[in-house]
This record gives sequence, structure tokens and C-alpha cells, in this order.
Amino acid sequence: MRCFVCQIKNGPVSAALHSAKFTKVCPTLRHTRSRSASTYTLERHSAFDIFEQQRLCVHRPRLQALARATSIGSEMAGKPAQQQEGLKMPSGDTFPWIGFGTSGIPSPDSIRHAFAAGYRNIDDAAAYGNEAENGSAIGEFLKQHNRKEIFVTSKLWQDKHHPDSVRKSCQQSIRDLQCQYLDLYLIHWPEAFKPGTKEPETDFTLFDTWKAMERLVDEGLARNVGVSNFSLSQVQELKKAARIPIACNQVEIHPMLSNDKLVKGCQALGVHMVAYSPLGHSPKEILGNAELVNIAKAAGKTPSQLCLRWNLDRGVAVIPESGSPEHIQENIEGIYDWKLPADIKNRMDALNRDQRVIDPTWHDWTE
Ligand SMILES: NC(=O)c1ccc[n+]([C@@H]2O[C@H](COP(=O)([O-])OP(=O)(O)OC[C@H]3O[C@@H](n4cnc5c(N)ncnc54)[C@H](OP(=O)(O)O)[C@@H]3O)[C@@H](O)[C@H]2O)c1
Repeated sequence: MRCFVCQIKNGPVSAALHSAKFTKVCPTLRHTRSRSASTYTLERHSAFDIFEQQRLCVHRPRLQALARATSIGSEMAGKPAQQQEGLKMPSGDTFPWIGFGTSGIPSPDSIRHAFAAGYRNIDDAAAYGNEAENGSAIGEFLKQHNRKEIFVTSKLWQDKHHPDSVRKSCQQSIRDLQCQYLDLYLIHWPEAFKPGTKEPETDFTLFDTWKAMERLVDEGLARNVGVSNFSLSQVQELKKAARIPIACNQVEIHPMLSNDKLVKGCQALGVHMVAYSPLGHSPKEILGNAELVNIAKAAGKTPSQLCLRWNLDRGVAVIPESGSPEHIQENIEGIYDWKLPADIKNRMDALNRDQRVIDPTWHDWTE
């Protein structure tokens, strides 16, 4: 018997061979970890599983099938957030290494797919204009699960930096996302706008906004607070004034924009790094890069899995986005139980060309 997707024969296979080859859901067969945890055995699904798999066109059975397959493919996926490996937040909570980005997802169904595939870390923001919609999928999940099982991030938009607006904005995101409180609330960009505009606001400082963010932690509205798109000098300055530690700086990072100085600088200050657009936002340019494709072939992984693992190996968490159930699955499967060999890491590091994808006109990228 041979799995027609990953082509592994029946019987025990080594963990390395398994993680190199098992990159897709096996529709009729499954791999189970042996007691020694170093080999996997291929078995047939039960008749019930096969019955469900044959109804792949029906939404819910497919999600259930994906969930089962992933719990086989990764030790971490599907575990409650607090039991996953990831970044240790100042609150003591865990930010699971792999989160799910939502800025451009076609509908909340993508979040349902992500939950089913084992993601327990969701990244959203008021500016994406989809928090109320996405909240339907989160609220649904929380009817069946404990709140602590997931980690939810939202972000304060630039025209809400006024200290009096911070609390209201946070409460609105909590209501929209139906999540009771935020695990992490970020200042989305350092520049403040006047309400409802893109005109610079200069009547108060970033420190005033940060103090209002800290009060959210005092009140239990946010478990952690952090920043996004901050330069190293901005993080250094803010850290001097911060009463509550800056949990993270979320910035664009992928192999073509390694952001090495910022990553190492923030990490040295005890501020975690989270990579947005970890697949390069527009996948053709980055994921289609010929050298990356060659490296992926050599590593027995897909280009996206390679990009994600490359960040994880630098201690940087990732929040890839996808509207495709197959990509959602691919981006969490076989990532945790694998590390980049030194030669592959060196080739990945050499891909950097400081190629930024997200580059709004109002922002100055000086260090
Ligand atoms: N803080 C900030 O200022 C900021 C800025 C930008 C983004 N973000 C956050 O970061 C998240 C991710 O960033 P992003 O959406 O810009 O970019 P990304 O995750 O790097 O890339 C998303 C694109 O990659 C494709 N993709 C995903 N998995 C794939 C796979 N396995 N194979 C091939 N293509 C794949 C997706 O297409 P399919 O849908 O077809 O899979 C989509 O077009 C956002 O959703 C948002 O939460 C934050």
C-alpha cells in the first residue's frame, strides 16, 4: 500500500523522511507517530473517515478532515495556544510561532479553515475593515472552546492615537472580534493622523498614546501591548518610557527583506519580532523566485514552508495569510518539526536584497 499523495509506502518511515514528504493531506491514508516518536506508520483511515473524505465538496466534513490530518502532521497545530511553542509574552502567555493573517482574506471562512487546520493565533486590525465579519468565525469557535485556546491580535489605527480614543478603539475591536479581550494590541504605525484623515497629528506624542495602551493592560482589555512598523530607534526610545514591556514589533520580514539589524536590535532589547507578509505579500515575486524554488526542492519543502521556517529559525514568529484551504494547510504543516540545515540557511540568507513590499507614502523607513 502506498499513499498516492506523498508516495510513502506502508510501514514505518523515519521522521525526517516523513516531514520531508508529507506536505499534503492524504485523502485515504494517514500516518501515525509510533511510540518511539521517531517513525511514522501508514494506516488506512476508518470507514467513517473515508466516507467523510468522499464528501470533500461539502464544507464541514472537509474542515474536520483537515483538522484530523493536521493533528497527525504536526505536534503543535491544533493545541491550545498556551500549550504551543512560540514567543513568551510579557503576560506569560504564548504567541504561537505560526499565526494566521487576515488583512485580505476573502471571507471569515478562511478563519474557519485556519482553525480546522490547527491555527490558534489570529492577526487582525481595525484598518482591515473585516473585524466584525471575522468575529463571526471567532465567536463561533469560542462557543465550543475555552477563550485561552486562542491568541488574538488587533491594531490601533493611526487616526485613533489620541489617548482618549485608544480605549474606545480597543473595545470596538473586542466587540467586533467577539473575543472578550485582546491577547495583543499593537500601535499599527508610529505616525498619528487627525481623526478621519491622513493629516499628521502633532498635538500629542507617541508616548501619550503608549501610556493609554498600557492602561488597557491595567484594565484587562488587552493582555499585552506592542508596536508595528517601528524603527529600532523608536523602539529604543519607547522602551525607556514604557512601564509595561513592549511585547513585540510586527514588521515586514521575508527572505528578500531580512531586516537583520532591526530583528537583532529588537531581540537584544527583549522585544520579540513578528513577521508580516512572510511570503512576500504578492507571492509571484518572492515565492516564484528561481533560487528560492531551487532551495525548496533541495530541502524537500515548498517555497512557502521554507520562507516560514527561515523566520522561525531566527526566533521570528510568522503570520502568513491565505484564502486557499490548501495553502492554509501547507503553511502550518511540517513547519514545526523541522529546522533549516546550515547549507540551506546560508542559501536563504543570501537571498536578501532589502526588497520592501509594503511601503506607504506617509511612512519614513529611517532607522
Ligand atoms: N502590521 C502591518 O502593518 C501589516 C502589514 C501587512 C500585513 N500584515 C499582516 O500580515 C498578514 C500576512 O501578510 P500579507 O497578507 O501581506 O502577505 P503574505 O502572507 O506574505 O502573502 C499572502 C499571499 O501569499 C499567498 N499564499 C499564501 N500561502 C501560499 C502558499 N502556500 N503557496 C503560494 N501562495 C501562498 C496568498 O494567496 P492565496 O490566498 O491564494 O493562498 C496571498 O496572495 C496580513 O494578513 C496581516 O494580518 C500586517
